[in-house]
Amino acid sequence: MASSDSRRLSVSRIDVSKGHEAEFHAIATQFAALLARKDYGRAVTVADEAEPLRFYYVNHWNGVASAELCHADPEVQSLTTRLYQIARVTHVVNGVRRPEMMRILLEDRRARVEADRRTGFDRRMKNLGSPTGVERRLSRDRRIGPRRVRDRPGQVDLIDAARRAREHADAAFSHFKVGAALETADGEVITGCNIENATYGLTMCAERVAMFKALSEGHRAFVRIAIVADTEAPTPPCGACRQILWEFGGNMEILLANLKAPKGTHRLKELLPLPFDERLL
Ligand code: THU
Repeated sequence: MASSDSRRLSVSRIDVSKGHEAEFHAIATQFAALLARKDYGRAVTVADEAEPLRFYYVNHWNGVASAELCHADPEVQSLTTRLYQIARVTHVVNGVRRPEMMRILLEDRRARVEADRRTGFDRRMKNLGSPTGVERRLSRDRRIGPRRVRDRPGQVDLIDAARRAREHADAAFSHFKVGAALETADGEVITGCNIENATYGLTMCAERVAMFKALSEGHRAFVRIAIVADTEAPTPPCGACRQILWEFGGNMEILLANLKAPKGTHRLKELLPLPFDERLL
């Protein structure tokens, strides 16, 4: 048995779709049994007395390693997949982050990005100016300036990760480069940048690139996303991205920033107050 100080607590809020309560209780019972049987920890389900369809999963892990083994366990993953089909899951407390791992991950990315920051084709590197004639970039220099390591253990500098991702943006037509960095519930950072296309409608925003990358790598729980553009006013996610972020990330925290400073924090629910989602289908 792990000592109490190596235990970790996670709490998720579960909003169950109407009509799926019985299935939710069955999943919760199986999940608790699985955690106990495989000695990952202990799971308790708490009902929200004010909201009949809202529950909280409180997981007391037997340590960070148990939590990681649990997330990688196919039996757990199949239960989680079933849960995601009938409920919206919002991670409220994440007690299983590995600060050291996150720092290494970011430093590794940094090393790779700095090796060759001029990516893309030459034709795309040329600044043809903005179609409106108004230069939206704050400075002519594409470089962000001296690199400072600001990650403190336990706290990923998500905005910095988005700034770096932005350097890979392929914005040949709008010249409006955007970077995004998405943080998963277990502390991984997945980045994206906008990728434009000569058929303009095929353009993909930075936020959706990050989200689709994350989903394709098996991530299903997200806590925050940082979005960076080189403009004085913050660049909030477009309507399509708000919908995608809501569908897969729930009421995430949205951090907006430019190349120099943070420009505000929002909750997705504020930006998408009356969302359409599978609960209405
Ligand atoms: N764009 C993003 O990537 N994210 C946003 O939040 C706003 C817009 C991109 C799409 C397109 O490549 C360019 O910015 C101009 O619209």
